Amino acid sequence: MARKSSTPLSKKSSRQTPDEGVRGYTIKVKYPLQRKIALVTGTTQGIGLAIARALAIEGCHLALCGRNESRLRQVQTELSRRKVRVLTVPCDVRDEQNVEEMVTAVRREFGHIDILVNNAGIAHPNQTVSQLPVKQWNEVIATNLTGMFLVTSAALPLIKRGAVIANNLSIAAKRVFPGSSAYNASKHGALGFTNTLREELRDRGIRVIAFLPGATDTALWDVFWPEAPRNKMVSPATVAQAVVNALKLPAESTIEELSILPASGTL
Ligand SMILES: NC(=O)c1ccc[n+]([C@@H]2O[C@H](COP(=O)([O-])OP(=O)(O)OC[C@H]3O[C@@H](n4cnc5c(N)ncnc54)[C@H](OP(=O)(O)O)[C@@H]3O)[C@@H](O)[C@H]2O)c1
Repeated sequence: MARKSSTPLSKKSSRQTPDEGVRGYTIKVKYPLQRKIALVTGTTQGIGLAIARALAIEGCHLALCGRNESRLRQVQTELSRRKVRVLTVPCDVRDEQNVEEMVTAVRREFGHIDILVNNAGIAHPNQTVSQLPVKQWNEVIATNLTGMFLVTSAALPLIKRGAVIANNLSIAAKRVFPGSSAYNASKHGALGFTNTLREELRDRGIRVIAFLPGATDTALWDVFWPEAPRNKMVSPATVAQAVVNALKLPAESTIEELSILPASGTL
């Protein structure tokens, strides 16, 4: 069931100074994302949660989803303290009906979407093509590729001129890592999807960002390389800041592709 916080949309952010309250332009320049509506998928942990936190600091109202309901409740409680409205909806992005219900909840609560961040994703244990079970392959493709398509196509009617869609891909969208065939294929496919979407939406004034992080210190690594050197990875907060900076650009400009990597390179 969808949960929402009680702060009304019209309520001013506690960060606003009286001066900013009078001079709307100052607010726009300082907090260009303030009162924008952002839908972020996969926000119960990791990069998605870090992006939700960073957007809340910017004053964005949030619609958040994931499958883990108790984590979603915790995230709702945490981010509502930022004086932004937070709608959390349990949703499995692999499930078309689930996704439609989630977008319906967003439409009822907010009416439109200014920012869509397709972030939900999974990895799989390091297995060669001859070892990888088809069930594993299907789950990764359904989540990382089809899930991105389902959420985007359901959300598009709510997305208008000036909005931004940021798809969290990976450097695995452009290069391959042996033992990660389903992950690599899902991300290569998601880059093709993202680039196509950008051209389809260009005339409508909707920008599409292909976001390609390198190794980021999240639970994802427990799945395919538990011993990976965490100290060399980028933090999810840093990755989130890079996305938010890209989202802040004015409507006439865009970063079409954004890579952020550990300074030491790939692991
Ligand atoms: N960590 C990295 O090094 C790295 C690098 C490049 C790109 N990425 C990408 O960043 C994204 C987030 O990964 P992460 O590293 O933050 O991993 P994570 O910590 O495991 O977080 C994954 C998030 O996705 C959600 N999710 C997974 N399957 C879902 C589904 N079927 N429906 C809805 N939500 C789902 C999870 O929530 P629930 O379990 O509650 O559903 C969780 O909130 C992924 O797309 C990943 O490929 C990660």
